[in-house]
Parts: sequence; C-alpha cells; structure tokens
Amino acid sequence: MSSLKGKIITVVGSGLIGRSWAMVFLSGGYEVKIYDNKAGQASAAIAEIKSQLSLLSSHEDLQQALEGAFFVQECVFEDLEAKQTAFQDVENLVTENVILSSSTSCLMPSNVFSRIQNQTRCIISHPVNPPYYVRLVELVPHPKTLDTVMDVTYSLMTDVGQAPVRLRKEIDGFALNRVQYAIIAESWRLVQDGVISVKDIDLVMSEGLGMRYAFIGPIETMHLNAPEGIEDYVQRYSEGIKRVLNTFGPVPEFSGEAAARITKEICELIPGDQEHLTARRERRDQLLMGLAKLKK
Ligand SMILES: NC(=O)c1ccc[n+]([C@@H]2O[C@H](COP(=O)([O-])OP(=O)(O)OC[C@H]3O[C@@H](n4cnc5c(N)ncnc54)[C@H](O)[C@@H]3O)[C@@H](O)[C@H]2O)c1
Ligand SMILES: *[C@@H]1O[C@H](CO)[C@@H](O)[C@H](O)[C@H]1NC(C)=O
Repeated sequence: MSSLKGKIITVVGSGLIGRSWAMVFLSGGYEVKIYDNKAGQASAAIAEIKSQLSLLSSHEDLQQALEGAFFVQECVFEDLEAKQTAFQDVENLVTENVILSSSTSCLMPSNVFSRIQNQTRCIISHPVNPPYYVRLVELVPHPKTLDTVMDVTYSLMTDVGQAPVRLRKEIDGFALNRVQYAIIAESWRLVQDGVISVKDIDLVMSEGLGMRYAFIGPIETMHLNAPEGIEDYVQRYSEGIKRVLNTFGPVPEFSGEAAARITKEICELIPGDQEHLTARRERRDQLLMGLAKLKK
C-alpha cells in the first residue's frame, strides 16, 4: 500500500463524518481535499483542525477538488437523491480508475450508485461513529464492483489504521446494523414487557456481554465457551438457544405507551437536553479512547 502514499483523496461533504474521514486519511499520509456544496462549509470544517493539517485543502469547486484524486469518499446527507446527484457530478469529472466510495449507513449500493455509468468502481465504506476510536469500516460492494476495487479500498483502510471488513454482497443494514438492531429489538421488548428496567438492560450489555465483545466476537465466544470448542458448544446449547429464540416477540413498534415509558426512564437517568447529552458523549469518547489504547 505504500505506493499509494502521497496520492490525493477527495471527501465530498464536510459534516461530522466528512471531517473524520479527512483526519483518518490525513493521518495515513494521504493528501485530502474536502468539497461541500454549501458556501463556507468546507473551509469552516478545516478551520478547527487547520493548525496540524498542512495537507488538507478546502474547495468550493468540485472539479478542482477532484483533480489528481485516486479515491473519492462521499459523506453528504443520508438522502438517496443527494447521494445519487453527488456521484453523478463526481463521475462526470473523474477519469476511469478513480474509486467512488460512499459513507452511507443505511442505503443500498445498488440504489446509491444507480445513476453511475461505471459501477465496477463503486463501493460503500461505512464507518462507525466516532471513527477515530471505533476503527471498523464495513466495505459493501455493488453487485458489479470489481474485486480489485474492494482490495484497494481494504488496503487503504488498513493503511490509515482502520479495521475494514468485507461484505461479500449487499444486504439491507449491512452487518453491523443488522446485529445492532437485533440487540435493540430484544432490549426494547424486555423493557416493554416489564421484564427489566432501562438501567438494568443497559448494564446487561455494558457489564456483561460488552466486556467480552470488545475483544472477541459471538462466534469465537461460542468456540471458547465449551470445553471442546464450537461443535461441543452447538451440541450442548443449540436446543436451548433455539427454544429461547422461538420466544422472541414481533418487531417492536417503537411507539405508544412503551416508547413513552422507555423515554421517561432513560431521561431520568440522562436528561435529554444538550448539556447532559454532550457531557455523556464526551464521556463515551473518553472511554472509547481508553479502550482503543488498551486494544493496541
Ligand atoms: N453521523 C454518524 O454517526 C454516521 C456514522 C456512519 C456513517 N454516516 C454517514 O455519513 C454521511 C454524512 O453524515 P454526517 O453525519 O457527516 O452529516 P452532516 O449533516 O453532518 O454533513 C453533511 C454535509 O454534506 C454537505 N452536502 C450536502 N449535499 C452535498 C453535495 N451535494 N455536495 C457536497 N456537499 C454536500 C452539507 O453541506 C454538510 O456539510 C451520511 O451518509 C451518514 O449516514 C454517519
Ligand atoms: C470502470 O472502472 C474500472 C475500475 O476503476 C476501470 O478499470 C475501467 O477501466 C472502467 N471502465 C470504463 C469503461 O471506464
């Protein structure tokens, strides 16, 4: 990957995620150009980080921003039309070998890239917030994406210190959100059904499952949790797992009386005003920073 050092990456959209990508790419030694279609946004974004970042440049002209780039990371609003338009504009201004990468959390590659002529160069690189401390990037191909595009993106992400994973095909929610939504759904149902409090279900994760999940995933957990490994685990526990899974209820509505009750409970623990939320987010980032150091 060292051959890519010194090359240019363009970030389209200079909000929260655009700025984070810029920092991540910069710290990997790439030159970064940020474009935003709202006047003053791109320069405002770099004003705060300007002092250390001599390789970062802001542009209000897309063509200029794309000049020389081998990789374009799109981070505009999570809106299909906005992304399709942004990519159309970009494709019209770049040469054939430039990789077009989207940060989308929830949109499918075949929709995001539907107006692109050469879809073999398109890929989703979905970061987790905040990307500085949570290194995972989900790489999701369009059905036509070339293996080499996946490989170059994978190497790039590794090179800048992120932890990429490859999805072999597109699926709604990718991998991270599918797992996250399964956890959200069952946590919600347990509180909704009066089994446990909001405070305690969050502790089930933060003091229980989360302790090991920062280091080992669910499949390795199965492998380690029976004397003879995963086959032994499956033999011992799969009947019980299936019995419990069959008692899971329908998808929650996330509305009505249950939603009001859960909102009230969490807001008693953490009031929903900006001051309290900001303080908790800062605490979260501090703790994640410590965990990231520990993992290294
Ligand atoms: N915030 C998160 O936690 C998170 C995590 C992972 C992925 N994402 C994804 O990253 C993307 C960006 O999210 P964000 O939180 O940075 O949003 P944001 O609203 O903070 O920033 C969006 C920026 O894009 C600019 N913009 C809009 N349309 C544009 C266009 N056509 N050309 C250039 N610039 C344009 C806006 O002016 C704004 O500065 C979304 O797809 C989102 O789903 C966000
Ligand atoms: C499409 O993109 C791929 C990957 O960048 C490139 O190798 C190929 O030459 C492009 N095809 C055309 C017709 O531009």
